[in-house]
Amino acid sequence: MSTTISPSPGNFALPLYASKLVPAPVTFLMCPPKLYDVSYVINPWMAGHLHDSSQVVAAEQWQHLHNAVTEIAEVVLVEPEPGSPDMVFTANAGLEREGVVVLSSFSHKERQGEEQHFRRWFHQAGYTVLSVPHETPFEGEGDALFAVDGSRLWAGYGPRTLQSSHRYLSEAWKIEVAPLHLVDPRFYHLDTCFAPLEDGSVMYYPPAFDKASIDRIEACYAEDKRIIVTEADALRFACNVININRTVILNEVSRELSGQLKLRGFRVVEVVLSEFLKAGGAAKCLVMRLSGATH
Ligand code: ARG
Repeated sequence: MSTTISPSPGNFALPLYASKLVPAPVTFLMCPPKLYDVSYVINPWMAGHLHDSSQVVAAEQWQHLHNAVTEIAEVVLVEPEPGSPDMVFTANAGLEREGVVVLSSFSHKERQGEEQHFRRWFHQAGYTVLSVPHETPFEGEGDALFAVDGSRLWAGYGPRTLQSSHRYLSEAWKIEVAPLHLVDPRFYHLDTCFAPLEDGSVMYYPPAFDKASIDRIEACYAEDKRIIVTEADALRFACNVININRTVILNEVSRELSGQLKLRGFRVVEVVLSEFLKAGGAAKCLVMRLSGATH
């Protein structure tokens, strides 16, 4: 898609959407699963699945997801790198807003090699890249989700991201960070158990949080805005949802949950992502949201 208009007198090649007539397209960063594998165990999902995923099936499932995402957004790709089998989970590359990326500082050495690859990609794409020290791990969009009205940044901590990293996020965007403590090792990233949706509701699995965090969520979302996910759906990564406007893209979930989402007016697109569940990720982990303005 063309993002510029040709220069002419009185027309300074502004991006099309800078005219405010056309909203900026949402862009997602994805990484083809050519080198994807479960080659170590850093979360409970990976245990028992070492080298147990099929390259062919993973490629097919990823392609279905890619097709679904390109229907609602732009997609840009980063090439996978040898030695970084989890690079497909681009949500963990960092967190971006307004052209600024806070790059992840991975908790486990197994994923730290990805940082240089993502740093290079963001630099080449023209983003301002900020770093977080290794003493204070931060795992990107996997653990940090903007409220849809932009009023605050919901930030998970515990299994991976440390709460001490949150100040780098509030400094980067001058935004209030609302900390959420993750207490169930199966839901080790915030995006595995919490999803603010664009109609002003929130989907979440309460037992993944401590009491203070549940209170914080409930203080921001009225009861009729809370979509409580069952354990069975949470284990299908139901909260790991890609949401643009009225479309939600997620792994297969129960008919009850997809029915609830449809009743709220969502178009529900289910994509089987079983090969990626073996590594502890699903739809939302496989994309990173970019504001797109720098492309
Ligand atoms: N195997 C990866 C890890 O444990 C999965 C990452 C899932 N990503 C996410 N955003 N939840 O780090």
